[in-house]
Amino acid sequence: MYTHESLGSQFNIGHLCTRAQCDAGRGDKVALRWVPTALQRIDYTFTDLDLHSNRFANVLTGLGFQPGEIFFTFLPKATEQFFAFLGALKAQVVCGTLFANFGDEALLDRLGDSRARGVITKKQFLKKILRIRDRLPELEYIILVDSDEHQGNGILSYSLLMAGASDSFEVPPTGPETPSVLHYTSGSTGKPKGVLHCHRSIISQSYTTAHVLDLKEDDLLWCTADQGWVTGTSYGIIGPWSLGVAQLHYGGGYDAGEWFSLLEREGVTVWYSAPTALRMLMRESDDLYAKFDLSRLRHIYSVGEPLNPEVIHWSRRLLRHEIYDTWFQTETGAIMICNRPGVEVRPGSMGTPIPGIQPAILGDDGAPLPDGEQGNLCIRSGWPSMFATYLNNESAYQSKFRDGWYYTGDTARRDGDGHYWFMGRSDDVINTAGHLISPFEVESALLEIPEIVESGVIGAPDELLYEKVVAFIALRQGVEYSTALELKIRLYISNKVSSIATPQEIRVMERIPKNKSGKIMRRVLKATYLGTELGDVSTMEDL
Ligand code: PRX
Repeated sequence: MYTHESLGSQFNIGHLCTRAQCDAGRGDKVALRWVPTALQRIDYTFTDLDLHSNRFANVLTGLGFQPGEIFFTFLPKATEQFFAFLGALKAQVVCGTLFANFGDEALLDRLGDSRARGVITKKQFLKKILRIRDRLPELEYIILVDSDEHQGNGILSYSLLMAGASDSFEVPPTGPETPSVLHYTSGSTGKPKGVLHCHRSIISQSYTTAHVLDLKEDDLLWCTADQGWVTGTSYGIIGPWSLGVAQLHYGGGYDAGEWFSLLEREGVTVWYSAPTALRMLMRESDDLYAKFDLSRLRHIYSVGEPLNPEVIHWSRRLLRHEIYDTWFQTETGAIMICNRPGVEVRPGSMGTPIPGIQPAILGDDGAPLPDGEQGNLCIRSGWPSMFATYLNNESAYQSKFRDGWYYTGDTARRDGDGHYWFMGRSDDVINTAGHLISPFEVESALLEIPEIVESGVIGAPDELLYEKVVAFIALRQGVEYSTALELKIRLYISNKVSSIATPQEIRVMERIPKNKSGKIMRRVLKATYLGTELGDVSTMEDL
C-alpha cells in the first residue's frame, strides 16, 4: 500500500505505474490487454508500458516541455492515450484529457483556459482544432497518432517522434504536491473549471482499487469509462497499474452481445461500468445472458449517476452478482463513499465512506443535520487525492470549502446505520448518462444561433440516461419553429459543445423566465416542464 512514508521522495504516477512494477518483478506480466475490435487482441507488458511511456516523456522534453506545462490527450480509446498520459507524467508535464466528442467551443474553452502547449489526437479530429487554432496562441504542437509524416506548422507525426526518441528516461524525484492530471468539469455558471490534481492522488487511487474494487494480482479489470473522465484515469489507468494488475481496454462502442462475449472470452474478473450502460443491458432479452459463461467474473461496480434498485435486482437475478455502487467526483479524485464486498448492500444507497474519509450532511448554515434529513454532502478536507485547485480560479476553489469541509455540490441523506443516499445536485448541473453538462454552456451556444434570442436549459428525469437535456428557447420575431430549425440546433450544439450535450427535447416559449437581475430561472423552467408548482416567483421579472 502506498503511503506518504513509503513513497518518500518518489510520488511520480508514471514511474509507479510502469518502472516500479518492472522493478517489482512484473516486467513480463501483461499490463494492458488491448482489444481494438472484436477480432483483434494485443497484449502489452509492464516493460512495454515503461518503454513506450519513456519514449513519450523524451518526445515531450525534446520539444521543450517544462515541468508544470500542460499537454492534452484528445483521443478515442487508443493505446497512445496510455503511453502519452504516463509519459507526460514521467516528465512532470501536466496531462489533461479531453473527450473525443467535444466540439470546437468546448475544446477552445479547455485548451485556451489551460494555455496548453500541446495536444495528441487523430487526423479525424484535426479539423476541430484547426478551426480554433488562431485563438490558441500557446498551442504549439499537435501530435497525430495516425500520420506518418510531420505536416509543418507544429503538426507532428507520433510515429516519427517516437521512432526518434530514446526508450530510457530518468524520472525526476517527484513530490506529493507536484501537479499531475487536469480534468475540466462543468458547473452551472461560467466556463468549465480545470480540476488540477497532484501526484499524491495515487495514494487514494491505489488504496480504493485494492480495497473497494478488491483487485488482486491475477485479476483482469475492465473499466469501461472513457479516459476523458476522471474514472477513466483514476481507475482505467492509475489504480490498477499502480498495483501491477492487468486491465482490458476495448476500442468498440456499446453492444450487449459483444460486451458479454468480451467478459467471457477475455476472462474479465472485475468490471467497472456506469448505470446508463447497465440499464441498457437490462433492456436486452434475458436469453442473451444465458449463453455466456461469466464464472470468472468476481465483481461488478458502477459509478457516475444514481444506480436504481431495479438494476441491482436484475443483476442479482440474471448475472448472479451484486452491483456495487461507488460515489466520487472529479474533484475527489478517488472513490469516497461506496458499496463493496463484505458490506451489506442496500439497493438505492451509495454505501458507506471508505476508511479515512469523513463525510457529513450539513445544512446551508454549516450545521450538521440529523440522520434521515437531506442536506449538503460534505467531506472533511485533506484526503490524499483531494484536488489542488481549479486552474486559474483559486477563488472558485476556496468557495468550495467552509470550516474545513469540502462542499461537494450534491445533496444526500444518511440513514441511522451510516449508509448514504444520493438525493440530487444542489446546483443546476445536468447529469446525463454520467456526464456533467453545464446548462450555461448549452444556453450560450444556443444564443449563437441567429434564430434564437433567449435560452434556458434544464435536466429532466429520464429512465435510461438519469437526466436528459431539455432546452427552452425564445425565437427572433418572425421566425417559425420547424423541423429544419430543430435539426440545425441539434447539429450546432453537437459540433460546438458535444454530442452528449445535444438537447433531447426543445421547447419554444414566448419569453424565458428570468429574475429581476436577468438570471435565468431554471427552477421555473423545470416546474413548467414537469407540470409541478412554480414555487416562489416573487423575484421573477414581469413578463
Ligand atoms: O452528482 C454526483 C454524480 O456525479 C458527480 C460527479 O461527476 P464527475 O465530477 O463528472 O465525476 C464522475 C465520476 C466519478 C457527483 O457530484 N455521481 C457520481 N457518482 C454517483 C453520482 N450520483 C449518484 N450516485 C453515484 N454513485
